[in-house]
Amino acid sequence: MSDTPRKILVTSALPYANGPIHLGHLLEYIQTDIWVRFQKLRGQQCTYVCADDAHGTAIMLKAEENGVTPEQQIAQVKADHGRGFADLQVNFDHYYRTHSPENRALAEMVFQRNKDAGYILEKTITQLYDPQKGMFLADRFVKGTCPKCKSEDQYGDNCEVCGATYTPAELIDPYSSVSGATPVEKETTQLFFDLPKFEPLLREWTRSGALQEQVANKLQEWIEDLQPWDISREAPYFGFEIPGYPGKYFYVWLDAPIGYMASFQNYCDREGLSFDDYWGKDSTAELYHFIGKDIINFHGLFWPAMLDGAGLRKPTAIYSHG
Ligand code: MF3
Ligand code: ZN
Repeated sequence: MSDTPRKILVTSALPYANGPIHLGHLLEYIQTDIWVRFQKLRGQQCTYVCADDAHGTAIMLKAEENGVTPEQQIAQVKADHGRGFADLQVNFDHYYRTHSPENRALAEMVFQRNKDAGYILEKTITQLYDPQKGMFLADRFVKGTCPKCKSEDQYGDNCEVCGATYTPAELIDPYSSVSGATPVEKETTQLFFDLPKFEPLLREWTRSGALQEQVANKLQEWIEDLQPWDISREAPYFGFEIPGYPGKYFYVWLDAPIGYMASFQNYCDREGLSFDDYWGKDSTAELYHFIGKDIINFHGLFWPAMLDGAGLRKPTAIYSHG
């Protein structure tokens, strides 16, 4: 080819470090792998990175259940994921983990830049707390009876029987699925990313050709009613403690997509590529994320907004599948 090769960075969604790779994952990795092989055959400078998504309550509790530390848990799963990908010849150029020094530094940088730009808010909210386990409970760790149809054992955010959505506080006879205890309401101050400030940017970017039209239509429903996004979690939590906020951790979904950058950073340091050529505001490199449609809100709203707030480039396109 006579043209200069295009610089292309490609990612697949980062699998959680709490279980094996299954067919649903493979659909995506194989799809991405084919796309990457095509670009390489065409002579493009195409790099495919991924990583284990190692943080959050689910992984912390899984480690506890297995009687190991979270660090041991994620090391075991990473080895297992590695074997699976090798067997199937999914050829990542680099496979890393979100629990890494690069990801900590990049998450702190993205947070600090957004904070300096005025995009981080502090708000006191009331959350359900497990008094026996001594921890705040995410919606899906609270179960109880649906306030609408009275079906038992429903999750804290929606009823799988009648489809009603509600808050965990509205459940009848709520209980913690971690300990079985009755949760109590407790006040806590958390950090929020001021997503509504990015409404004009998101309206523009979601219609820029970066998304499939159906996906843009779905995102538009959320754009009509953007809310600040809770990006912090209270200890105990397996993740990165937030600088300046002892006992508070970045929510797993804050540092997970930054894990794309961290994996690439680690690769650049090894291969001598320029990280800034790809992530700088004026980058001419192309950036593509392959994901499942269930996580399009994170990739199509929070992620471009956070990147922009931090003075970084936005994705060229997001390819989402069912
Ligand atoms: N671990 C998440 C999931 O399985 C995906 C993370 S993708 C990333 O739903 F953007 F956060 F990296
Ligand atoms: Zn119901």
